[in-house]
Amino acid sequence: MSASSIEQPADLELVRTSYDRVADNYVEMNLGDITTYPWLRSAMDGFAASVRGLGPVLDVGCGPGDVTAYLAEHGLDVSGVDLSPRMIEHARRLYPGQRFAVASATELELAESSLGGILGWWSLFNLPRHVLPSVIQSFARALVPGGQVIIATHKGDGEIVRTEAYGAVPVSWTTYLWQPDDLWAILAAAGLEPVAELRLTQSVAGVPSLVLVAQRNGQ
Ligand SMILES: C[S@@+](CC[C@H](N)C(=O)[O-])C[C@H]1O[C@@H](n2cnc3c(N)ncnc32)[C@H](O)[C@@H]1O
Repeated sequence: MSASSIEQPADLELVRTSYDRVADNYVEMNLGDITTYPWLRSAMDGFAASVRGLGPVLDVGCGPGDVTAYLAEHGLDVSGVDLSPRMIEHARRLYPGQRFAVASATELELAESSLGGILGWWSLFNLPRHVLPSVIQSFARALVPGGQVIIATHKGDGEIVRTEAYGAVPVSWTTYLWQPDDLWAILAAAGLEPVAELRLTQSVAGVPSLVLVAQRNGQ
């Protein structure tokens, strides 16, 4: 599945401008810092240890780059992309030694078998339900055998239409909630095998959340 064949979400520009509007508060509130959340940190440590040495790692929806920088500190060759130019401005300012670019998860032209790891860390839940499978297929194709994808997202049924976020900033986006079985089915359909699942009864945002790790087979 190449990016050119992925449907672009109808609300992509609204989502982009919404994250541009919240980016300053997101940084101010230090929301990307996993070191304050021991379970998230341990999941990320497990991922880092698993993909180290397999090839470059791409943090898709990296926001202000805190996790990208965390992985770089842990010895990974990592770069970040994000839909929001303002998020990327912050990432470049905060972590000038790291590589960041503006791009949507739906428009990445990822070369086959080019990455050891891919993150969708709290960044794929705005993708419409029918678009996520193509994005995951593009990730799976980009991984080397044994490479892993790590996804953090909110758990539940249905979706939440957000009109404000991160300090009552006006936004316009939909957060699609996922049940683990449905996400695992999408990962399996893309040829990815389950590695780990962490269920958080509450996330930072007060919504139950999930971390899933899956691996491209064919070692
Ligand atoms: C909740 S923030 C998480 C940021 C970062 N991963 C972190 O943990 O701090 C969600 C991020 O996903 C980005 N995002 C939303 N839709 C995206 C898309 N289609 N492609 C790339 N990034 C996207 C937003 O711009 C925002 O920076």
